[in-house]
Amino acid sequence: MAENQIRTIGVLTSGGDAPGMNAAIRSATRRAVSKGIRVKGVLKGYEGLIKDELRDLGDRDVSEIIGRGGTILYSARCKEMLTEEGVLTAVETCRRHEIDGLVVIGGDGSFRGALELSRHGINTIGVPGTIDLDISCTDYTIGFDSAVNTAMRAVDQVRDTSTSHERVSIIEVMGRNAGYIALWSGLAVGAEDVLLPEKYDYDEEQIINQIIDTRRRGKKHHIIINAEGIGHSQAMAKRIEAATGIETRATILGYMQRGGSPTCQDRLYATVMGAKAVDLLAEGKTSRVVAYRQGEFTDLDFEEALKMEKTISEYEVDLVHSLSYSTSVR
Ligand code: F6P
Repeated sequence: MAENQIRTIGVLTSGGDAPGMNAAIRSATRRAVSKGIRVKGVLKGYEGLIKDELRDLGDRDVSEIIGRGGTILYSARCKEMLTEEGVLTAVETCRRHEIDGLVVIGGDGSFRGALELSRHGINTIGVPGTIDLDISCTDYTIGFDSAVNTAMRAVDQVRDTSTSHERVSIIEVMGRNAGYIALWSGLAVGAEDVLLPEKYDYDEEQIINQIIDTRRRGKKHHIIINAEGIGHSQAMAKRIEAATGIETRATILGYMQRGGSPTCQDRLYATVMGAKAVDLLAEGKTSRVVAYRQGEFTDLDFEEALKMEKTISEYEVDLVHSLSYSTSVR
């Protein structure tokens, strides 16, 4: 489709919200308005498409949201989008509102819905938005930086009290089946252990032996970052306390990681990605995902992007252990 043929676009946020989504909504809206394109905000993700809950978005509607957490469009996990009937209803809503292109800001679940819409003739552009960083085609997802900074600060605070009481602390961070928040926050706080779904072999005895060893060498705390994908932190704490004789507490950080004002990186990258999604639509590109790869913003074919696989950095995993279990006493 040529540039002047795009008249109306839709924007939605779907799945778990993430700090920076508002920055992407703002930039997509303002970029579109600057090109003479009308914007419809779809409320509550795909649910809004299925239930026909859309509202016009003008440049003033997105004022002062760049620094706000959450999403002004609201978000939902929509099971109906997994059915053919749901997809067809969503397609019908797009047609009724004469939407020439849809910007979907969300994670991989949301991208699967977007791909279905694409296959049914709705031009859809995906913008990666999830704190989990688990979208294979991109090195950056909106919200990860804010979430991992929140986790890092929280662990720093837990460590203060953990040291005072000479306890072992297990801190569980979000990430669903991915260990990026755990790995990055673990490295950033100098955790003694980071348990990742991608790597964990359930060898608790090894962890227990290391706790006993580091305590014998005089270490006053032992911080274990446990990824949500492994979970069971409370039960693990009880087992470790029983085996080591050292008081052990579990803290589950939970939804605080999804909220709060986005970091500079999330505001900036989300701004670029939201605008780029609109640029792609205006250029007549169809079915693309905006991505950040090897230091550059780029775009990929939706179908190809969803086939990619992501691996966790072996080097970073190795660093956690080699930096935590040095022979000297800290
Ligand atoms: O995908 C973001 C995320 O916060 C995951 O880390 C977590 O597993 C999940 O969402 C929680 O989802 P819900 O908000 O549906 O409880």
